[in-house]
Amino acid sequence: MNSYLTVEEAAAILAQDGIVGMPTETVYGLAANAFSPQAIAKVFEAKKRPWFDPLIVHIPSADSLSHLVKSVPALAQKLAEAFWPGPLTMVFEKLDVVPDLVTAGAPTVAVRVPSHPVAQALLRACPFPLAAPSANLFGRVSPTSSRDVLDQLEGRIDGVIEGGDCAVGVESTIIDFTGPQARMLRPGGVSREEIEAVIGPLATLETTAGEDGNAMPAPGTCKRHYSPLTPIQFVGDAVVSDDSRVGLIAFGKGKGRRRGFVKTVNLSDSGDLCEAATHLYSALRQMDLCGLDYVIVEEIPATGLGLAINDRLRRAAARD
Ligand code: TXA
Ligand code: MG
Repeated sequence: MNSYLTVEEAAAILAQDGIVGMPTETVYGLAANAFSPQAIAKVFEAKKRPWFDPLIVHIPSADSLSHLVKSVPALAQKLAEAFWPGPLTMVFEKLDVVPDLVTAGAPTVAVRVPSHPVAQALLRACPFPLAAPSANLFGRVSPTSSRDVLDQLEGRIDGVIEGGDCAVGVESTIIDFTGPQARMLRPGGVSREEIEAVIGPLATLETTAGEDGNAMPAPGTCKRHYSPLTPIQFVGDAVVSDDSRVGLIAFGKGKGRRRGFVKTVNLSDSGDLCEAATHLYSALRQMDLCGLDYVIVEEIPATGLGLAINDRLRRAAARD
C-alpha cells in the first residue's frame, strides 16, 4: 500500500473519519476531523495516547476561532495578529461544538493556525477543523519528516502527506488564556521573549502552580516525554568510563573535550538556536540507532528557542 497521500486524498479520507499524517512547520501532526468523536478516538488508539491528554485543534486562520471558543481576550487577539499563522497555540473556553474527547473533558480548547503551506492547503480543503497531536507514539520523539511518521505509525494510520523537513523542529508554544493572567504552559517555537514583547509578562506553570496548588498537568508535562530509547545525561553529571559507548549532542564551537565519542551530532556548529531546534529530534533519533550506553548533551543557552530545546531535553532525560 502506498502510504503517501495528496492533499485531496487526505481530505477525502478525513471526511470519512480517517486519520492522516500532516506536515506542519513545528512537527508532523496526526490529523482527524475535530468534530468527529469516532475520528478522534482513532487518533488516541493509533498513538496509544492516554485519554486524559487533550488535543490541539488546527484552523486555517483566526477567522474561524469564533466558531470554537466563547471569547477571545484582547491580549490573545494581539498574539494572533503577531504570530498566526505560526508555531503558537492558545487555550480558550470552548463552545459545545468541540467534542469532550478532543479536550479530554476539559471546558477549554487549545487552538493553533499552522503556517506550513501543506497544512494550510489541507485545512482549507476540509470543511471542519483538524485535531492533531504530534504524529508519534505516545511519549516518543516527535516526527520532523514524513519518514519519521511512517517509522512509528505505518499500518496504524491511513497515510501521510509529504511536506519536507519541519522548519521549526520543536512543537508550538502554548499560552493559556483561561486564567486571570496569560501563562505559558509549554515553551516552543515562538520564544517567551517574542511573546512578552507583544503582551507583557507571562505567568508560567511554575509560578502559578504555587498559587492555586493544582496547575494543569498539561502540554507534554508528563515528566518523561519525548523519550528516546538511549539514556541522556547533561554535561556535568557524566563520567565517561573507557568501555562505555557514549554519544555527544554538541552545540556551537564548544570548549574542547569532544573526544572518544562513538557518535557526535552538533545541533548547530555556529551556535544558532533556531538551527539547533530543527536538528533536535533527528539528533535524538540518530543516537538511538547507534546502540549507545548513553548520550551526553552540552549546555544550551536558556534564551529564545533554547528554552524549548532544554525543556524537551530535560524530559527526554527523565527516566521515570
Ligand atoms: O506544534 C504543535 O503544537 C504540534 C503540531 C502538530 O501542531 N502538536 C502538538 O500536539 O505538539 P501534542 O498533542 O503532541 O501536544 C499538545 C499539548 C498536549 O500535551 C496537551 O496536554 C496540550 O497541548 N493541550 C491540549 N489541549 C489543551 C487544553 N485545553 N489545555 C491545556 N493544554 C492542552
Ligand atoms: Mg506530542
